[in-house]
Amino acid sequence: MTIQWFPGHMTRARRQIEEKLKLIDVVFELLDARIPSSSRNPMVDEIIGEKPRLVLLNKADLADPEKTTEWSRFFREQGLAVHAIDANAGAGVKELASKAKELLKEKIDRQIAKGMKPRPIRALIVGIPNVGKSTLINRLAGRNIAVTGDRPGVTKGQQWIRFGGELELLDTPGILWPRFEDPVVGNRLAATGAIKEDILHLDEVACFVLKVLVEQYGQVLGERYGLTDLPSELPDMQAAVEVLESIGRRRGCIVSGGHVDYEKAATVLLRDLRSGKLGRITFEKPEEMQM
Ligand code: G4P
Repeated sequence: MTIQWFPGHMTRARRQIEEKLKLIDVVFELLDARIPSSSRNPMVDEIIGEKPRLVLLNKADLADPEKTTEWSRFFREQGLAVHAIDANAGAGVKELASKAKELLKEKIDRQIAKGMKPRPIRALIVGIPNVGKSTLINRLAGRNIAVTGDRPGVTKGQQWIRFGGELELLDTPGILWPRFEDPVVGNRLAATGAIKEDILHLDEVACFVLKVLVEQYGQVLGERYGLTDLPSELPDMQAAVEVLESIGRRRGCIVSGGHVDYEKAATVLLRDLRSGKLGRITFEKPEEMQM
């Protein structure tokens, strides 16, 4: 479900997170490892404030591992703790308790020095829609409890999920709004499925994806669709449309008169991308970070 975010929604989402922040020790800020910058809420620093935070690069299974390493280094240089995970399969998830403990080490040591028994660390997951919040909550809970949805709503009966004795997670995540003012960011969000494509033109999103694939992941289009003699760059939309046309022909996306159905070709490409059939692709480099 995609909603349009209006100022009222944003204010409500922000207020709900601020209420939850009072209950917790640490924030898990969930980003999409394929688009760490575009999947970041523009006001997240302001909203979270001084609360200890662990940046989680989720969907790392779909992202380019080298770029994930670069992004991790980048966040560390910004003074943020960071950890790559795959919430779907569970890779990296069991380390969350120890990562959170590291972040709160001083506080925990102080409690121990005073003879207090440290209580479990309380955590909140925050992130934009579709970044994997419910998947991670369900994974930590070991069962399906989180309701998927991207609307900040009335949250009644919040509960804590105990994870391994040392970590407790609030079962309702903090839902942040995505960036939407910049068309490049919009294309990246749409390419990865963070926003549904009915807002943007499918073929435009596909052309954006093709530009990245041709220029940075040259071999994948040959391997997947048997395209040969591809240029090394796609300088304009027309050049990208020609590649989309070749994919359409290869995949039989033809309408009457023998013309390529661009929308169908775009659907094929985006479905392959999102399911990982084109390999592990990252769309952003840390130098492009927009905050
Ligand atoms: P949200 O609560 O933040 O809105 O996101 P949610 O958990 O619903 O996850 C959105 C989609 O992303 C889901 O796919 C989910 O399976 C997928 N996903 C979450 N974490 C990971 C991950 O680490 N790796 C991979 N590969 N996928 C992940 P879906 O149910 O198919 O939804 P959709 O694609 O139809 O939107």
